[in-house]
Amino acid sequence: MTHPNVPASETPQPDPYLTPDCVFLPPLPLPQTEPQPQPSTTNPDPYATPSCVFLPPEMPPAASKSSLPLTLILAATPSLGIGWKGGLPWKGIKADMAFFARVTRRVSEEGGPVGTVVGETKNAVIMGRRTWESIPERFRPLKERVNVVVSRQGAEALGAKFGGGEGKDEVLFAASVQEALGLLENRRRDSGSATRSQIPHTERPYISRVFVIGGASIYEAALALPQTRRILLTKIGTEYDCDTVFPLDLEGEEGRKQGWVRRSKEQLEAFVGEELGEGGGVEGGVSYEFCLFEKVVE
Ligand SMILES: NC(=O)c1ccc[n+]([C@@H]2O[C@H](COP(=O)([O-])OP(=O)(O)OC[C@H]3O[C@@H](n4cnc5c(N)ncnc54)[C@H](OP(=O)(O)O)[C@@H]3O)[C@@H](O)[C@H]2O)c1
Repeated sequence: MTHPNVPASETPQPDPYLTPDCVFLPPLPLPQTEPQPQPSTTNPDPYATPSCVFLPPEMPPAASKSSLPLTLILAATPSLGIGWKGGLPWKGIKADMAFFARVTRRVSEEGGPVGTVVGETKNAVIMGRRTWESIPERFRPLKERVNVVVSRQGAEALGAKFGGGEGKDEVLFAASVQEALGLLENRRRDSGSATRSQIPHTERPYISRVFVIGGASIYEAALALPQTRRILLTKIGTEYDCDTVFPLDLEGEEGRKQGWVRRSKEQLEAFVGEELGEGGGVEGGVSYEFCLFEKVVE
């Protein structure tokens, strides 16, 4: 992967895949109809500020009704190891970190309101508190994405400790993955019915894709949700010492039973919006391969 704790993903070099404005990708043919969000009549969240949002306990949990499709993104060893002592088990694989940065930033019109142009559009990345802490302070929040940190500690305490800061991208805090999704869904409804002229560029971005970026406990919670449709897995070809493991072997018996199917390189490229050449490579003697899995819903 794809790794959040990897500064290289935030390199200052120009990213040929990004433009200063939004990049809309062609919609991916999906195995089933994607539910379209409906314009909402709900009022804007009075607790929101452009830099930091505290999700109050009384916020109604809209998450269970969320229709935002979720994509998990991770890198794992052959035995599904993803973490070691609070960081990655391997020394950053730059190509994977750059892939993570491009893919999680690149927005898509998939699932968006048809024919509507909104102000700023951003993807969201949902992560556990430990993964957030594993990102060097100067690189967080991950830029050009709405960052959502999940913790049981309480949004206010966490916000005071980790709030976005002036000029930084927005950070939201939620007590569960469902709550994080509910918050993003509310955002999407609030901005989805507006036009570009109605939303100043600097205000709440419209949420395009939502990525779950780890760690293991957040992946596990997300895997239990029906909204989780895709997994972008970077297969690392070498084993390392790991103390954190991805909870599902996608190509094993349980993964197949749950309906997870590996898609072709062409389908992967269509989803991520870029050509991937060989679909992987070797860096510092370590091989990596980009894969897309989708859940086939009966
Ligand atoms: N290889 C990869 O692709 C990849 C990706 C991401 C992370 N990682 C690695 O994975 C490791 C971190 O993973 P991890 O599983 O230990 O930690 P994590 O999932 O990042 O964070 C765990 C914390 O998130 C909160 N949390 C977890 N589940 C929750 C739930 N259901 N509801 C509410 N809050 C919840 C809790 O925070 P509180 O304790 O504050 O309540 C918990 O302590 C690191 O080594 C990191 O480098 C690897």
